[in-house]
Amino acid sequence: LERTLDPDVLLAWYDRHGRTLPWRLPRGEKPADGALSSSTPPRPEPYRVWLSEIMLQQTTVSTVIPYYERFLSLFPTLEALAQAPLETVLHNWAGMGYYSRARNLHACARALTEQGGFPADPDSLRKLPGIGPYTAHAISAIAFGLPVIPVDGNVERILARLAAVAQPLPGARPLLARLGEQLGERLASAPRARHRASDFAQALFDLGATICTPRAPSCLHCPWRESCRAQAGGLAESLPARQKK
Ligand code: ADE
Repeated sequence: LERTLDPDVLLAWYDRHGRTLPWRLPRGEKPADGALSSSTPPRPEPYRVWLSEIMLQQTTVSTVIPYYERFLSLFPTLEALAQAPLETVLHNWAGMGYYSRARNLHACARALTEQGGFPADPDSLRKLPGIGPYTAHAISAIAFGLPVIPVDGNVERILARLAAVAQPLPGARPLLARLGEQLGERLASAPRARHRASDFAQALFDLGATICTPRAPSCLHCPWRESCRAQAGGLAESLPARQKK
């Protein structure tokens, strides 16, 4: 990653251009006293973050929204979901596919109520049903503000372009995971941004969805264009490369 890559620049972009989505907090007014450096800005509840991230694993944002809202009204808390019969959960999942997600969701709700709620760290989260490395990082960052980066396909694309990774997918995955760790280290040591790991993760999703798109990326509007090696070489659209079958 370029040394000039600045986490604050992405957050400033997100403050102006981030999407409003039901699993995010409403975009707050800036505190009048300029207390942006507060070390614990508000974050969405772990239950909501977990539910949304499980749904978003294999389903698009626009399909997920009505399911997410229905789940929250039927099962407003982790306890409500844990107490519901599995059949009810599966019934309301119908149409999103990948039903193992719904079974794991229910099993995970039961395990979590027994252990008294969500752990904050990725290693503990990964021991739970349905939670892999990506989802563990997403919950840690978004719900608990730990400076870790959830690396899904969208974030892989951003990292491959920032670092101009020539190696094709899927072979480049371990390298992209290390770049995600490097980005997390940058975030952790940025004096202001390190308090905003929750927004930072969501900002990466929005950058991938609206600017750093798979085809015809909008590099001219990208907050990180000056620090992107692919953009410098005119390679953005061609990365990440894919292994020919
Ligand atoms: N994709 C995965 N997680 C997401 C999130 N929290 N917001 C938008 N898109 C996502």
